[in-house]
Amino acid sequence: MPWAEIDTPALLLDLDRVERNIATMAAFFAGQRANLRPHFKTPKCPQVAKLQLEAGAIGITCAKIGEAEEIAKAGLDASVLIANQIVGAPKLARLVELAGRLPELIVAVDSAEQVHALDEAVAQSGARIGALVEADTGMHRCGTDAPEETVELARALERSRVEYRGLMGYEGHAVLIPDAEKRAALAGQAVATLQAHRQALVDAGLEPGIVSAGGTGTHDISGVAPGITEIQAGSYVFMDGAYSRVRDEFEPALTILTTVLRRRGQLLITDCGSKALSRDFGMPTGADLPLAVVGLSEEHGHVQIDEGEELDLAPGDKIRLLPSHGDTTINLHDTYHVMRGDRLETTWPISARGKFR
Ligand SMILES: Cc1ncc(COP(=O)(O)O)c(C=O)c1O
Repeated sequence: MPWAEIDTPALLLDLDRVERNIATMAAFFAGQRANLRPHFKTPKCPQVAKLQLEAGAIGITCAKIGEAEEIAKAGLDASVLIANQIVGAPKLARLVELAGRLPELIVAVDSAEQVHALDEAVAQSGARIGALVEADTGMHRCGTDAPEETVELARALERSRVEYRGLMGYEGHAVLIPDAEKRAALAGQAVATLQAHRQALVDAGLEPGIVSAGGTGTHDISGVAPGITEIQAGSYVFMDGAYSRVRDEFEPALTILTTVLRRRGQLLITDCGSKALSRDFGMPTGADLPLAVVGLSEEHGHVQIDEGEELDLAPGDKIRLLPSHGDTTINLHDTYHVMRGDRLETTWPISARGKFR
């Protein structure tokens, strides 16, 4: 089926581009000591994770237990890192249950309370769970504030029934900085902070087996830094509009197809509003035409044809838009329409959409 016949709004994946993005990242890591553990928070789809694992990824990173549960449900035989803090009894109950369904399950910790709660959950269930101490490397989200705190938590893990596996730090404040020099400087500082935490662990006789960091925008900075063993990049696989302004070795592979409902001069009103398209990271643009989204109401997109451009578009015609933020747009959809060139090859369920618990 050609894309013009697909009902809208619809998410389209350009499979040739997805495959090239996966191959480009795999080729980069083939020459490095660090490995790739791609983040599932972007695709939320086991079929994509499978392609990444087949290309050499050593496991999968997830943001939430709900995402990791989808990896297990799909039968992917993958080591999973939930790069996040797991807090509260309902989540701990799911975590220990999930541990039995995956070859390896690792979580992040940044407090003694969490280590204690995990230890209790492991003791009661007999589950095998590993943990990385998360250090704050400048994003000021989660993570320990000082190397001494990291060492304390590593010691607490060593005393517990949770397996101490290493260290992580995500330089999320640097990944989307468009200026390459500024990005490298900030990522360099984050890496130096993580290395200081690592050194403190080494000095305390607690050398971390895993040191995990990095995103798409910094994979070639943290991914080549001494001591860092794996990178959690996610966005490279589809490259949204925001990331396309930052990196050019990966290709935008995700678009949203929408139908023109009405034309008012240079303004097109389409059937794709904020329920199907996120305005995170700025307004979407035309994927292949000179268009800019200037407004999103719930069910309608307001799409401006660039000044001076003459486009022969009328009600019933379909256009493709490039979302500025892929992850949050994908979260609004059930299905990828997987395209080979202009033809629909298959559909893939976005099984981890909405799995934010
Ligand atoms: C902890 C963590 N690691 C890795 C990533 C992936 O980064 P990117 O999408 O920049 O590749 C994210 C994204 O938000 C994240 O929160």
